[in-house]
Amino acid sequence: MNEPANILIIDDEESMRDSMSQVLRKEGYAVKGAVEGKEGLNLFSRETFHVVFLDLKLPGIKGMEVLSRIKDTSPETPVIIITGYASIESAVEAMKQGAFDYMAKPFTPEELRVVTKRALDGRRLLFENMYLRRELEAKTEFEMVIGKSKVMRDVLEIVRRVSPTESTVLVTGESGTGKELIAREIHLHSLRRQAPFVVVDCGALVETLFESELFGHVKGSFTGAHETKHGRFEVADGGTIFFDEISNIGLNIQAKLLRVIQEREITRIGSSKPIKVDVRILAATNEDLAEAVRKGKFREDLFYRLSVVPIHLPTLRERKEDIPLLVEHFLRKYNKKAKKNIEGVSPRAIRALTEYDWPGNIRELENTIERAVVLSKTNGIDVEDLMYHGISASTGLAGSAGGKYKTLEEMEKEHIKAVLQSQFGNKSRAAEVLGIDRKTLWAKIKKYKI
Ligand SMILES: Nc1ncnc2c1ncn2[C@@H]1O[C@H](COP(=O)(O)OP(=O)(O)OP(=O)(O)O)[C@@H](O)[C@H]1O
Ligand SMILES: [Mg+2]
Repeated sequence: MNEPANILIIDDEESMRDSMSQVLRKEGYAVKGAVEGKEGLNLFSRETFHVVFLDLKLPGIKGMEVLSRIKDTSPETPVIIITGYASIESAVEAMKQGAFDYMAKPFTPEELRVVTKRALDGRRLLFENMYLRRELEAKTEFEMVIGKSKVMRDVLEIVRRVSPTESTVLVTGESGTGKELIAREIHLHSLRRQAPFVVVDCGALVETLFESELFGHVKGSFTGAHETKHGRFEVADGGTIFFDEISNIGLNIQAKLLRVIQEREITRIGSSKPIKVDVRILAATNEDLAEAVRKGKFREDLFYRLSVVPIHLPTLRERKEDIPLLVEHFLRKYNKKAKKNIEGVSPRAIRALTEYDWPGNIRELENTIERAVVLSKTNGIDVEDLMYHGISASTGLAGSAGGKYKTLEEMEKEHIKAVLQSQFGNKSRAAEVLGIDRKTLWAKIKKYKI
């Protein structure tokens, strides 16, 4: 669950801090106060604040300086300037430097509530823009989880039940089976869906960089650390962090990750101050983690922490009945993308697609369809358009199997099945393709128990 928004008030006037805190706490926010800039920046570096109220006239470090340091480390945090009437000009100047808004004293509790809410909404929107919006748009258009087979329905049932919880989920499955898609699905059906979904590709970074990527670092903590940097955990605060290919992380990082899971706090490199983070953890792997544990390559305690709810994705070979559905889905997707209008897939092609083994699973099927859509010169897809790895024009051809000739009835049954699949189950269209009327088709479907 999301923790309440955390608000920081930096103002040297005690009565001001007190009255503001009172109003904001009543709204359910957590509030901290600082008397001057240095104390404020200290607090700010230690935990995540969602909004900062800042008085420009401060003892010690100037308000403007405080503003610029906050914006340096955390440009997404809205800073609201508190100002007296006499100094509205400097407030305007602060706005130019990146302040979110300003409030002229005296202001009413209602004004304070409205500005705070607007700042929080603004921050959320900014995050959405950065991390979510493109993905959400892509999803509503294309990224649906397709699958009617029993194995997939079972998977989706677990997804439905686990999504609204806070449980850690380990998604396993061969390459291309949809592990990342399922992780996103869990996030989008959770109470954290408005907050970021942050992907950490554990295979992509060397260990030293990986650590700073995850936990962040403070300025000067190592050569090249010119600025303080927020780690992925901080970016994911309130949302979900997804460790893809988790088997690739080294034992050193594994230990650190375990600590985060247990303590729910992180420490930036070069800092000794822990920062609270509120994130849900999901992970995926196409390797056998239990085997890695036996070999001493993966910590057993971390393995158990991660696999509270394991979800195993079936290969495409194990759910061939989903192939026609997936083909239809990808056909629509790539028609739109390539601005083409391919109407269907020939029975022979559907048969070839169903007979093929799909070592690359859904990703391979998707690529195959994309390529076929792009390459096809007609308004349909046939076997010739599928020339790809193991799929060849010879598969899908009716006739002999293993030297033994099929009977005409067997061939008729298979042919009707393939045509039905190619027309996505639409019997009128299938009858048309087969050149028989619907009644005859019905009779044959009954006869062959298709
Ligand atoms: N059930 C499904 N319905 C529709 N599209 C799917 C489904 N499963 C996977 N896909 C699509 O297949 C492609 C591969 O999926 P994804 O990247 O989630 O697989 P993965 O298991 O993470 O693969 P890898 O192990 O190679 O990283 C994506 O484009 C995804 O949208
Ligand atoms: Mg993946």
